[in-house]
Amino acid sequence: MRTRRFFIGICTVLFLGVPALKAQAAKHSGGMLHAVRQSPVRPPVSAEGQACLDCHASTTPALVEQWKESEHYKKGVDCYSCHKANAGDPATVDHYGQKIAVIVTPRYCGNCHARETDQYEHSRHARAAQFIGSLDNVLGEVVEGAPAVQSECRQCHGSTVRYLGDGKFDSTTWPNSGVGRVNPDGSLGSCASCHGRHSFSVAQARDPQTCGKCHMGPDHPQIEIYNESMHGILYKANRDKMNLGSKTWIVGKDYAAAPTCVTCHMGGTPDHPESTHDTGTRLSWTLRPAVSIHQQDWEKKRAAMQEVCLNCHASGLVNNFYKQFDDTVNLYNTKYGEPAAAIMKKLAETKAITATPFDAPIKWDYFEMWHHEGRAARMGSAMNGPDYTQWHGFYEVAKDFYTKFIPEADRLSPGITRDLRNSPDNIWLKGLTKEQIQQELDYYKKRYNQ
Ligand code: HEC
Ligand code: HEC
Ligand code: HEC
Ligand code: HEC
Ligand code: HEC
Ligand code: HEC
Ligand code: HEC
Ligand code: HEC
Repeated sequence: MRTRRFFIGICTVLFLGVPALKAQAAKHSGGMLHAVRQSPVRPPVSAEGQACLDCHASTTPALVEQWKESEHYKKGVDCYSCHKANAGDPATVDHYGQKIAVIVTPRYCGNCHARETDQYEHSRHARAAQFIGSLDNVLGEVVEGAPAVQSECRQCHGSTVRYLGDGKFDSTTWPNSGVGRVNPDGSLGSCASCHGRHSFSVAQARDPQTCGKCHMGPDHPQIEIYNESMHGILYKANRDKMNLGSKTWIVGKDYAAAPTCVTCHMGGTPDHPESTHDTGTRLSWTLRPAVSIHQQDWEKKRAAMQEVCLNCHASGLVNNFYKQFDDTVNLYNTKYGEPAAAIMKKLAETKAITATPFDAPIKWDYFEMWHHEGRAARMGSAMNGPDYTQWHGFYEVAKDFYTKFIPEADRLSPGITRDLRNSPDNIWLKGLTKEQIQQELDYYKKRYNQ
């Protein structure tokens, strides 16, 4: 419906607007825009759009050049097509005779891209700014200090944009292109969080570094894991064969050399050629909380991810991979996540610790165990980064669990970890057998002392 209206619009411009456009183009040739003038495609720019260009070619020349690199330029989607104020948007301004929006929200893009916008609005990405109440928020807002939340958290998660009128915004809330930004028109998110303006190129959006802008660091090291994985290595070695600018991008048809974040989480397959803007549709676990749980409809979501893998791998490998992955998540849950959570609960119930987060060392240790190290372990295993599973993951979890968490819990409430220490998982604390110790001594002797 919307698309049809859009095409009628484009056709009108094509038939009525071209002579005027040629005249405008002639008027402007010889300016700073020759590079683009060589393009054989003439954009059917509207009269309002041309007015924007007349000024902005000199006020923001590089911005205009970026737009001229875009598919939008080729299809006559001009400044006015995007910035023309939507009815009901409170954040608009009269700008040299036109009512425009400074912030082009998903609702604006949705005027032409209804499918992508609808999927995005149903995704967790769109709701990423709703983190008030989380421990992370207490950490940023209260412990670290409120300005931290604006410049750290909200640049990734999104601000609540406050419009002051007259084209001006509260500087603590904008500029911002967090993935779940709350916009003055009530829409959620920012398409520009992945689609750099004003080229809006799919090639750029498909590059793993686009996701790595936010999916990085100690608490969600996805880009680091990917770069270390065979998948990431093959991507780097074969980037020129990845066909990143292709109109369709179906694994096994348009490219084959390596999978990227987009391949696995969003990309089209021969059986389901349409990509999705809901990144949650292929996840069977949630690897973020202190104890991992399955997603709703997890079997269906896992099957959707496996459909991607099976374009490059055989089912034996994929099934065994998922077995290894499940084993890792279950190990983390049962050996560390669940027991540590139970002890924290007991400490709170017996008032050995307060209800206030982060006011005692054990709370920081516990937080790092699940929020940084425990996530790295689980995410490393999900995406083939063994260094993250082991040295940034289980090694750190185990070190903190045995050398900080258990001793500190015992200090706060003597005897509280007795049952835990006697459980089969932790019985090794009582000492290895003579044979085990001898085996270890022999190993080093044989390996290095010959
Ligand atoms: C008469 C010249 C002129 C015209 C016509 C014009 N602009 Fe501007 N525009 C400017 C100038 C000058 C600025 C301010 C640049 C600055 O502050 O550095 C600006 C700023 C903007 C901003 C940022 C506003 C803000 O508050 O941050 C947007 C968005 C914008 N223009 C879009 C458009 C669009 C879309 C059109 C066409 C509908 C258009 N402009 C037409 C000259 C113009
Ligand atoms: C495909 C839609 C689209 C088109 C076409 C478009 N814009 Fe934008 N523009 C955006 C988006 C999205 C933003 C980011 C606003 C935000 O979310 O903060 C933006 C922001 C801006 C800004 C203010 C932000 C800044 O970086 O200073 C200016 C100025 C602007 N656009 C001018 C233009 C001009 C001039 C043109 C035509 C050459 C144009 N836009 C074409 C979508 C578009
Ligand atoms: C007036 C209609 C219109 C608006 C508004 C619009 N687009 Fe587009 N967009 C198009 C058309 C037409 C194409 C070309 C589609 C094609 O070739 O099939 C396109 C293509 C794209 C592409 C693919 C580019 C490529 O390299 O192939 C992206 C990404 C995109 N738009 C994002 C956006 C975003 C983000 C916004 C809002 C900031 C937006 N669009 C607003 C009409 C629009
Ligand atoms: C570099 C970008 C970035 C910064 C900065 C950042 N986050 Fe995040 N945050 C993310 C990403 C990406 C995820 C999702 C990780 C995943 O799914 O593995 C996330 C996840 C979360 C979650 C978990 C949501 C859930 O449903 O379990 C919360 C809560 C959160 N962040 C709050 C915060 C707060 C509060 C701050 C500031 C103190 C902050 N984040 C700083 C990118 C960031
Ligand atoms: C999380 C990053 C991300 C965000 C946010 C995002 N996109 Fe995309 N978008 C992509 C990627 C990646 C592709 C390429 C998908 C493919 O072809 O496999 C894409 C492709 C597109 C395309 C080309 C056609 C298609 O569907 O493949 C359009 C149009 C588009 N996006 C519009 C939007 C709009 C509108 C929004 C905001 C409502 C948006 N995108 C937000 C990452 C994003
Ligand atoms: C080879 C496919 C593949 C690639 C490439 C890939 N992932 Fe993943 N990703 C997975 C799988 C499999 C899971 C676990 C799915 C499950 O829970 O069943 C996962 C899980 C995730 C999660 C969820 C973590 C959580 O909190 O539950 C995020 C976020 C994520 N990946 C982001 C990324 C980003 C960003 C990139 C690129 C830097 C990337 N992925 C590359 C396959 C991939
Ligand atoms: C601007 C920051 C940002 C960018 C860019 C970004 N993400 Fe995210 N992503 C987040 C945040 C924040 C969350 C956590 C949302 C929540 O649950 O609160 C998240 C969650 C996710 C999740 C898990 C949650 C779910 O159910 O969807 C996946 C998978 C994911 N992102 C994949 C990607 C991929 C793939 C890209 C690149 C195409 C990407 N993201 C780009 C910030 C970002
Ligand atoms: C576009 C093709 C492609 C996709 C899609 C893909 N992979 Fe791979 N994968 C490869 C290639 C190529 C290798 C490298 C094999 C080698 O080491 O020579 C690889 C390596 C692996 C390895 C290491 C194998 C080994 O022998 O050590 C695992 C495990 C793996 N992939 C799992 C997956 C899973 C799980 C998925 C889906 C979530 C997936 N892959 C999606 C191409 C792909």
